[in-house]
Amino acid sequence: MADYVYGPGRNHLFVPGPVNIPDPVIRAMNRQNEDYRSPAIPALTKILLEDVKKIFKTTTGTPFLIPTTGTGAWESALTNTLSPGDRIVSFVIGQFSLLWIDQQQRLGFDVDVVESDWGHGADLAALERKLRNDTHRTIKAVAIVHNETATGVTNDLAAVRRLLDAYAHPALLLVDGVSSICALDFRMDEWGVDVALTGSQKALSMPTGMGIVCASPKALEASKTAKSVRMFFDWKDYLRFYEMGTYWPYTPSIQLLYGLRTALDLIFEEGLDNVIKRHNRLGTATRYGGVSLHAHQVLDSWPWIGLIHCMNVKCRFAVEAWGLKNCCQKEECFSDTVTAVVVPPYIDSAEIVKHAWKRYNLSLGLGLNKVAGKVFRIGHLGNLNEVS
Ligand SMILES: Cc1ncc(COP(=O)(O)O)c(C=O)c1O
Repeated sequence: MADYVYGPGRNHLFVPGPVNIPDPVIRAMNRQNEDYRSPAIPALTKILLEDVKKIFKTTTGTPFLIPTTGTGAWESALTNTLSPGDRIVSFVIGQFSLLWIDQQQRLGFDVDVVESDWGHGADLAALERKLRNDTHRTIKAVAIVHNETATGVTNDLAAVRRLLDAYAHPALLLVDGVSSICALDFRMDEWGVDVALTGSQKALSMPTGMGIVCASPKALEASKTAKSVRMFFDWKDYLRFYEMGTYWPYTPSIQLLYGLRTALDLIFEEGLDNVIKRHNRLGTATRYGGVSLHAHQVLDSWPWIGLIHCMNVKCRFAVEAWGLKNCCQKEECFSDTVTAVVVPPYIDSAEIVKHAWKRYNLSLGLGLNKVAGKVFRIGHLGNLNEVS
């Protein structure tokens, strides 16, 4: 007998990815396999590659749609642009930045780790010192997670670009946008991001399985001399097939391509900037409740209200009203895609997550690693509105 059985009603998926898939995307993917060498799939891919650039806000970048997850997209970014032993400045601010650093170390790079307490953003003062002292230009890349999903902290990428420019530093800027792209303000060209990446199961609201990586012209140039061992993730193979007009070095998931088409259509129909504003509205509401919103946006129906009963604290509609603290320590870093809620020390946050699942069929995010038992996470990203 399994420990858990699904409760009645639909599962309310409020983990910060994978997120709910909108019905039009599900319907678009409900189809047969197709021959990817037929004229239809290259034609579809050609337009997808053009359109996907819009979610990165780039006109000069080259996108790759890779059958992988965010972790594979990380590996693609690193191995295509760097050589073993290259120095990377990387910031640990939570579990996902930590995992990316682990990957960087295991791939043989010389990782210059800048640590911050979890709940804080990347230490840009430390970055500035490193850039200032790097007269021999030994730093080959700065790698940063735009939005740390474990703690609900958003880093200031424009500030990172300003620092690189202030020291005229040529390091590549590699950005994990897994829980930011298509939900938070992200500007690849304007911020001089060299590689940006995301995964399909996050703000694009698709199934897991597609890593979307976008490379700047400078990153493509770097890939010509980068010596890291790579095969499956080698951009060169993609570029060769792009040139031939057939697009695929290996078999793509036909269903995910049609799913991406519809996911992008939904985003463009709403308008990317409106999507970003919607995330801001929902993030603000999760943090502070409905007070600053219009009457029709008041959040009485958000499903996690009831769960607070098990915590024996005052019940209202949002984190602040509950009397709880945000794990993120600075207002300007509050994430609009995920809120990590700190529970009182006498409560194990994992119990709340378990209770929510068993009693309300509501999925919330667990606290991870250093903040395990201390926080639970509410995901508010993707194709959702005030009530669902
Ligand atoms: C910011 C961030 N980066 C990377 C990953 C890893 O992505 P995946 O689990 O798709 O490999 C995640 C997963 O949640 C994430 O939140």
